[in-house]
Amino acid sequence: MNTMNTTVTKEAAMPDETPVPVQEERPAETIIQEGATVGTPFADDPKFKLRNVEVFYGQDRAIKNISLDIARNEVIAFIGPSGCGKSTFLRCLNRMNDSIDICRVKGDLHLDDENIYDPKRDVVELRARVGMVFQKPNPFPKSIYDNVAYGPRIHGLANRKSDLDDIVENSLRKAGLWEEAKDRLDATATGMSGGQQQRLCIARAIAVSPEVILMDEPCSALDPIATAKVEELIAEMSESYTIVIVTHSMQQAARVSHRTAYFHLGHLVEVNETNKVFTAPEHELTESYITGRFG
Ligand SMILES: Nc1ncnc2c1ncn2[C@@H]1O[C@H](COP(=O)(O)OP(=O)(O)OP(=O)(O)O)[C@@H](O)[C@H]1O
Ligand SMILES: [Mg+2]
Repeated sequence: MNTMNTTVTKEAAMPDETPVPVQEERPAETIIQEGATVGTPFADDPKFKLRNVEVFYGQDRAIKNISLDIARNEVIAFIGPSGCGKSTFLRCLNRMNDSIDICRVKGDLHLDDENIYDPKRDVVELRARVGMVFQKPNPFPKSIYDNVAYGPRIHGLANRKSDLDDIVENSLRKAGLWEEAKDRLDATATGMSGGQQQRLCIARAIAVSPEVILMDEPCSALDPIATAKVEELIAEMSESYTIVIVTHSMQQAARVSHRTAYFHLGHLVEVNETNKVFTAPEHELTESYITGRFG
């Protein structure tokens, strides 16, 4: 007897029902073309010009031949499934990856036509120009005032106490925190609410007059009200700064960003106007992600 001929009973369609054709799932690796980002990854006169970027952790290639321009004063959102390389790519922009021993960055990365990875580059100065706000608010265990004054002091931005006072006040105002903080500037920052702490970290980043602010899931530890405040702030800040934000919230990307970049397995699959990404994505993987089929 040929066991291979055993009849397999297929689930029969109901007589009055047309069977729904099953769309075959193709592995993402076979759909992605390395280095070929669809949409509009390039810009005229960009703030960042990033070409053929690859990032390795030891032998593992976490970023695979990504080329992207980030325009001046744009808000660009990085989205994509967990582990696809959003944070790794973001950290290349101010050399935060330098602190990870096994991490190696290859490619051409320029900020205003200056090579970010030039061995002679002053990384402290770079990070003053390209500030960062992390997922978890991380104020120093110092007073509110000293948190904001920290960067300006290190960089010698204020000669007199009154200049420093002005920087602290302006930064807290821009971060939407002045009214809540002005009567407790000497209080320790870690005693503030999570949302206040995150706005304090934004004030700290702003205090050194950066040109770019990188934000890695800045609202993921915040409640909806604190999130709304930070989003309002992003909209206001985009007039003065270039902002790159990593987010797992597609609603957030849609609300705050001009362009959205979709990452998948270390590739940059699609970059387009945010509205287009969420209403008419060009790439089938982007569509699968935004319609919730994976992620
Ligand atoms: N410090 C590290 N050492 C080794 N591998 C790392 C390190 N950081 C990240 N990776 C690896 O690099 C890849 C990309 O990680 P990354 O953190 O950039 O992803 P992500 O898109 O930010 O994910 P998430 O949405 O979960 O934050 C993953 O495979 C991850 O395991
Ligand atoms: Mg991340």
